[in-house]
Amino acid sequence: MTDQSELDRLEAEFTTAIGDALDEATLEDVRIAALGKKGRVSELMKGLGKMTPEERKEMGPKLNGLKDRLNEALAARKSALKEAALEARLATEKVDVTLPVRDSALEQGRIHPLSQVYDEVIAIFADMGFAVEQGPDIETDRYNFTALNFPEGHPAREMHDTFYFEPGEDGSRLLLRTHTSPVQARTMEAGKPPFRFVAPGRTYRCDSDQTHTPQFHQIEGLVIDEETHMGHLKWTLEEFLRAFFEVEGVELRFRPSFFPFTEPSMEVDVRCARLGNEIRIGEGDDWLEILGCGMVHPNVLKNCGVDPEKYQGFAFGMGIDRIAMLKYGIPDLRAFFESDLRWLRHYGFAALDVPTLAGGLSS
Ligand code: DAH
Repeated sequence: MTDQSELDRLEAEFTTAIGDALDEATLEDVRIAALGKKGRVSELMKGLGKMTPEERKEMGPKLNGLKDRLNEALAARKSALKEAALEARLATEKVDVTLPVRDSALEQGRIHPLSQVYDEVIAIFADMGFAVEQGPDIETDRYNFTALNFPEGHPAREMHDTFYFEPGEDGSRLLLRTHTSPVQARTMEAGKPPFRFVAPGRTYRCDSDQTHTPQFHQIEGLVIDEETHMGHLKWTLEEFLRAFFEVEGVELRFRPSFFPFTEPSMEVDVRCARLGNEIRIGEGDDWLEILGCGMVHPNVLKNCGVDPEKYQGFAFGMGIDRIAMLKYGIPDLRAFFESDLRWLRHYGFAALDVPTLAGGLSS
């Protein structure tokens, strides 16, 4: 027989231990110590069998009451610990949904407007059935000038502000091509007519101001077959400029000009309106020079192994940087080459804005 004060002490001891348990494992140890098979309360209950019926009648309810209260305290503590553990986890795993979403690298990167315009121009000409040809940046005098009907010592050569390399052993000097026109000569020489291609690429001249940089970009076009005439040239340029500037009413003006490799030669202006710094293509009363073109000179065909009695055609050349500046309102050409990230973020294009005629060139 255990007296009441001993039961009270036992209850107090376990109640304190339950309250002190800081995790579920410790709490389980306390439960085992009290109510497990060999627990102290369980041991006392085992003793009931050896008692007299009177003693059992008194002790039975006391021990059962103790057991129930301890079980209750254990359960309460267990759920309190569970809740605390959940609270702690929620606190550490907290996500602040008010934070701005961080852009992925794909969204932060920008396509340079020149690359974009390059792709736009190629998309338009490819749609019209033009192939794309390339030539080297370092050229010979022959391809850059002679084959294109620039006579030796002709002043047109000087107009090009050419960067020359040191003369080689035979006295000939390589140069940085001053225009993309040499690709006309190279491609005609290497193939057979008919030809219909554009040749975009880097070009170089010793010149630098707001609208000139020593390295810039041009796109050349050449169409040669038996019947190509100036009507085709005009249509091609109109279609191109309409698609490029994304305005329906592009109006062109052809002015007589001179290039050694074309006869007749023309410079083409587009109608535009100047509103302060802004230039609007296709409206207004102003004209803006945009490209050079003409019917390919018979001498050029001859120089490149094409029979001028049988074949004829047109050529044109255009500054890519220039049309990029016009289309996207970029005031200073030099900024194209300065790699200023702030400028690129402002004028650049998202990586997935791939220009297509169907999807919109610059949307
Ligand atoms: N090559 C000329 C230049 O750089 C541009 C040009 C004019 C190209 C007329 C042509 C053309 O093909 O027909 O100034």
